[in-house]
Amino acid sequence: MPALPLSVIQISDLHADPANPADRQRCDRVREAIAAIGPDLIINTGDVSSDGMLQPEMFDGLKAWQSEMGVPVYTVPGNHDVGNSLGEEKPVVCDAFIDRYLQTFDDRFSVNHQGWRFIGINSMLLGSGLDRETDQLEWFIAELDLAQAAGELVSVWMHMPLFLQNPDEVVTGGSAYWIPDPPVRDKWIAELDRACVRLVGSGHCHWYASTRAMDVDWVWAPSLQGLVVDDYLFPPGGKISGLVHHRLGEDAISHEVIPVEMPEQLIRLNYPEQAEEQAG
Ligand SMILES: [Fe+2]
Ligand SMILES: [Fe+2]
Repeated sequence: MPALPLSVIQISDLHADPANPADRQRCDRVREAIAAIGPDLIINTGDVSSDGMLQPEMFDGLKAWQSEMGVPVYTVPGNHDVGNSLGEEKPVVCDAFIDRYLQTFDDRFSVNHQGWRFIGINSMLLGSGLDRETDQLEWFIAELDLAQAAGELVSVWMHMPLFLQNPDEVVTGGSAYWIPDPPVRDKWIAELDRACVRLVGSGHCHWYASTRAMDVDWVWAPSLQGLVVDDYLFPPGGKISGLVHHRLGEDAISHEVIPVEMPEQLIRLNYPEQAEEQAG
């Protein structure tokens, strides 16, 4: 039985195809980095696969890789696992894609470790309009109510962050791709505004960030794919590839980013001068 503080590794955005030798090597380096830390548990915040909704045979290989970690691994899907609910990017999330993913992974979880409640959600449902979206929110509220009544501390895990800079921001243009539309976001933010909620961990942005709002730590894990994305609305200083090591105690939480060496590509998005260049 691990003692507090719990040692929790967050990995994200592997975008791995187990049939690709370079991807397998990259996954092995990630596993070595995790083994060097020896965490109590691991959370994978999605984009596990390289478009697994189109080639679902990838999921079994990735599940097998995760099962070699020797500690519990909890996984939520990303847009490259079950499709996207937002923006122009195809393919769009649908029941068929989620059902394929569910043959290997769960798309949400709620577990207790040493008084900490870990709740993971399928953020690709947010704004999808699928019946599952309503079911998931009802389930999430019920899980939060139970955790609160039991005096647990709560961490929430999802692929897509709920905001870029502030919980009440209005984002327009290309940067709106990264987050839910405000009416959907507001429903989730309202539920998270509870004293028991201490941490929300997400991925998707391929950029590290850590923000404090509503007495909650909001942590973006960087990508483990090698693709680093710098959107002009992302908080500064997140250019890194690696994993996040969280320590969850009774009175305090902390985290640090552990770099994992890999070939990197940086893309800059939505900077105003880019729009001017295009217009020009
Ligand atoms: Fe990703
Ligand atoms: Fe993503």
